[in-house]
Amino acid sequence: MPFPVIADTEAFTVLARIVDDLVTCGWSHQPDFLSPHLASGLAAECLTRLEHGQLAPAGVGRGAGQAVRNAVRGDHIQWLEAGQSSECDLYLRLMDELRQELNRALFLGLQEYETHFAFYPPGAFYQQHVDRFRDDDRRAVSIVVYLNQDWLPEYGGALRLHLEGEPARDILPIAGSLVVFLSAKMLHEVLPGTKDRLSLTGWFKCRSSYEISN
Ligand code: OGA
Ligand code: MN
Repeated sequence: MPFPVIADTEAFTVLARIVDDLVTCGWSHQPDFLSPHLASGLAAECLTRLEHGQLAPAGVGRGAGQAVRNAVRGDHIQWLEAGQSSECDLYLRLMDELRQELNRALFLGLQEYETHFAFYPPGAFYQQHVDRFRDDDRRAVSIVVYLNQDWLPEYGGALRLHLEGEPARDILPIAGSLVVFLSAKMLHEVLPGTKDRLSLTGWFKCRSSYEISN
């Protein structure tokens, strides 16, 4: 690797902590997951894509039923593909290491990863939701990585996790931090903020139970 990808010098430790958290509570927050270098490289890439008009208003739903609904979500997104930039390729490799570790430790059978850049302009939000589509059960684990340098609590824009039997938890979208949770269970929302908010949101997917039963 040309430069450190994970901020933690002991990559093993951070992956083990994520596994542990998922087993004990179904979610994990790692404040210093990406190295500052990779976080700022990815933020620059997201801003360049934004300036070139490559991010488009995100839709709600799937396939033919998809529609842009600002009262539900107001972010602009672009999906990542391998080979677009060295930063994105490093990030995809890092996510593949995490995928393999989750499979090794938890037998989750995660097969693929899909991820997009997301840009929330000031005032944009994403209403309470669960990350699984009604007609597609392949999204198993949700991953969000934040790319905002110097984000302050008064800017808002937190990810709010609605936990069962516990008070909700707010996580600020601070550069380099990572949130992982089980897609089928976690009710969550993005609160409006007062500054541009950049992130990478993605999902590890397993085989559909529809396919397995057929
Ligand atoms: C999503 C989402 C959370 C965030 O895109 O599905 O919940 O903090 N994002 O950006
Ligand atoms: Mn979500």
